[in-house]
Amino acid sequence: MKRKILITGSSGFLGSRLAHHLKDRYDLLLPSHAELNVSREEAVKAYMEEHRPEVVIHSAALSNTWYCEQHPEESHRVNVQGTVRIAKACKLVGAKLIFLSSDQVYNGTHRIRLYRSAWAERSEKSTYCAYHYYFYDRSAQAER
Ligand SMILES: NC(=O)c1ccc[n+]([C@@H]2O[C@H](COP(=O)([O-])OP(=O)(O)OC[C@H]3O[C@@H](n4cnc5c(N)ncnc54)[C@H](OP(=O)(O)O)[C@@H]3O)[C@@H](O)[C@H]2O)c1
Repeated sequence: MKRKILITGSSGFLGSRLAHHLKDRYDLLLPSHAELNVSREEAVKAYMEEHRPEVVIHSAALSNTWYCEQHPEESHRVNVQGTVRIAKACKLVGAKLIFLSSDQVYNGTHRIRLYRSAWAERSEKSTYCAYHYYFYDRSAQAER
């Protein structure tokens, strides 16, 4: 039997590509934004209890950095609190959570030899804009 995987944000850049890549090997749940709005605690809980995925790949987000900068509260509600809601719901149904952070959490001043090295989790983080800050915040919260 195929494992059941939920991909949030599956209409987005990352989610749609992951769905395409995984579709033959897994039983995918691909709810639209309207079907699973991560801003709504009860909706997230209800969806997870009904569908009980084994793994959740969380790629729902407000990804436009300029928009997030202009709308910090909404950005926090979706990117930080939405991630926490998903993490809690995963715990509730015993699902594994796969969360993808962003290289935009790094501040660009870290010494890096081009083509020879890469950002590491311990590299210095940036908090210079709401998007970066919230990503840093949500990455840390998802880890808990
Ligand atoms: N793109 C990359 O190369 C890359 C690399 C590493 C990590 N990431 C991370 O992966 C995540 C997704 O990035 P992306 O580039 O795929 O973004 P994207 O193309 O903007 O897709 C975001 C997805 O999230 C959905 N969404 C937005 N608000 C939502 C909400 N409140 N509830 C449920 N769904 C919601 C969108 O649905 P609608 O369009 O219907 O609103 C869309 O499907 C981000 O956290 C990003 O930082 C991306």
